Amino acid sequence: VLLVMSVETSSSEVFEEFRANVRPGDRIRVTGKVQEPGVDAVACQFEVFCRDFAIEEKWETEKRGCFQDRTAALVSGPSMQEEMSVDQDAPLCKAWINTGQCLKGAACRYRHDTGGETIGKARAMWVAERRRQRLQTPSALGDHLPPSDKCSKRQRASIFCRWLIDTFGKEKMSRGVLDVAGGSGELSYEMVIMSRIRSTVVDPRPIKFNKWQHRFLENSIQQGQADISELLLPPTMYQDKSDLLEHLRGCRRREGCDCAQLFLKQEQRLFGESFLEDPECSKTFDESAVIVGLHPDEATDIIVNFSLAHRKPFAIIPCCVFSHQNPHRRLEDGRPVSSYEDYVSYLRQRAPGVRHAFLPFAGKNQVLYWMGDE
Ligand SMILES: C[S@@+](CC[C@H](N)C(=O)[O-])C[C@H]1O[C@@H](n2cnc3c(N)ncnc32)[C@H](O)[C@@H]1O
Repeated sequence: VLLVMSVETSSSEVFEEFRANVRPGDRIRVTGKVQEPGVDAVACQFEVFCRDFAIEEKWETEKRGCFQDRTAALVSGPSMQEEMSVDQDAPLCKAWINTGQCLKGAACRYRHDTGGETIGKARAMWVAERRRQRLQTPSALGDHLPPSDKCSKRQRASIFCRWLIDTFGKEKMSRGVLDVAGGSGELSYEMVIMSRIRSTVVDPRPIKFNKWQHRFLENSIQQGQADISELLLPPTMYQDKSDLLEHLRGCRRREGCDCAQLFLKQEQRLFGESFLEDPECSKTFDESAVIVGLHPDEATDIIVNFSLAHRKPFAIIPCCVFSHQNPHRRLEDGRPVSSYEDYVSYLRQRAPGVRHAFLPFAGKNQVLYWMGDE
């Protein structure tokens, strides 16, 4: 299903939650009416007026390897492009170089060839070149940090965490932070494990430690640098350090690893209007001194709206604009919001006192923040 036209029985929030959980390869059940394909429809593409939907089976990467989109093979193939003339200076097709397939097939404007290299080598060269270009390009107008002084994107959570503490102060942060759209919990890991700041992740995606986080925690506990009674969320069945270490070590390589849940608090749901209707969420929200969002996607506007409405300080690092989903956004001069720069201006114009700064990591690194009614 490429497009859901309307949702009759479920609220848009339920649909958004469903969408956030679906990954390529998952088997989903959709109930609705199939529409006749339009004249412009791509092969294999159809539209459904959707009444209901559910995930029937998740794709298990551990057991089955990476999901390969077989519909792409039906409609495309490298040989099809040979029939049309693609400019030899055109950039390589991103989908094709990454997966060996492209849904657009012969209609693709980009090149489907490796220039005589093996696909693996061509892919490695393409990735290296993109990385080089990305590091040289400022992420936004006004970002004067030299690319050579920036850390890799992987360090964004720890850099953001340090900036938050420097800006809002450890005392304020220690009262509690709401980490909206926190994903797997990287920013909350930095706050809770590395800085002993209480934080709650709000995201439908389950939190999960990566191998590095796992190992660091194990070593800290093993060497007595981390006090487990201070770190573990109550109630806990692990009073004893060796039991906990055994659990952590046994879990590290398992797909269903639940270690993050022992240390980081999460509300596994979307942040939206209904969030405060739940008494536990409402309490967590009231107790939080700052609302933060690192690349919070669709939750960006919601964080700003909630923060301003409840006079709570916020700090967000916006990334995607989602202009098609938000045609109502207007800048002060009446223009619609269509680019990243427009979006940043729009968010800054939401209230007097919204400030901005650039953080030293690659990628989208502009933080917008409001200190509250000082
Ligand atoms: C680009 S990821 C960023 C995750 C994480 N902050 C990071 O930097 O790695 C965006 C996240 O936003 C979450 N998200 C989108 N809309 C949301 C909402 N309304 N409430 C909570 N989470 C949301 C998605 O589930 C996804 O995990």
